[in-house]
Amino acid sequence: MGSGARGVFITFEGLDGSGKSTQMELLADALRDRGHDVITTREPGGTGLGEAVRTILLDPAQHGMTSRAEALLYSAARAQLVETVIKPALDEGRIVLCDRYLDSSLAYQAYGRGLQVEDVLTLNIWATECLFPDLTLVLVVDEQQRAGRVAGVSDRLESEETSFFERAAEGYRRLASDHRHRIRLIDSAGSIDDVQGRLRAVVEEDLGLLPVQ
Ligand code: TYD
Repeated sequence: MGSGARGVFITFEGLDGSGKSTQMELLADALRDRGHDVITTREPGGTGLGEAVRTILLDPAQHGMTSRAEALLYSAARAQLVETVIKPALDEGRIVLCDRYLDSSLAYQAYGRGLQVEDVLTLNIWATECLFPDLTLVLVVDEQQRAGRVAGVSDRLESEETSFFERAAEGYRRLASDHRHRIRLIDSAGSIDDVQGRLRAVVEEDLGLLPVQ
């Protein structure tokens, strides 16, 4: 199920420390160089409300937040972003790149926290009025690489134990195998350029937006 609008909606997913934000900006530059009209945004955030919700979500003082409250807050920020930023941009025919989207909620809140996948999906279908990405790129990082990249940073999520991230990583693998038409796993080993090359190859193959480097 794609965006159903005139533009193209691509989301970036992966564990914290997978390098997806850097890769997204590089892809945005490459697409702009080809003359495409691109906007980038991120979750949670991307709107005034979303950034305020993000502050609550990442605040280590909120360590008692329940899984359901957490899922609702992420989906509230997402609802605001979809209706006020993503859908209008797609309606104008733009390419929207988003750093995290509803697959983060499935990986972290469902597979990671243990909420029912069906419940988190239903909540997010409602929150987004059924807006699914045309393509989702999941950057796959090994645990050693991930732990090295996030060492020293500790927002509320980053201070979770390793098993939480392992469950989220397994969640991404399951999602990719269940939704092969939309979700693609990208190996994030090697240099930034290596990863960007793999990612562009997939974008070209699936959407025909870029010549392969
Ligand atoms: P952020 O600092 O943006 O992490 P990253 O740079 O890795 O994207 O923090 C976002 C955190 O929120 C991250 O730990 C993943 C988590 N998250 C969820 O648990 N569910 C969601 O739906 C989203 C969008 C993010």
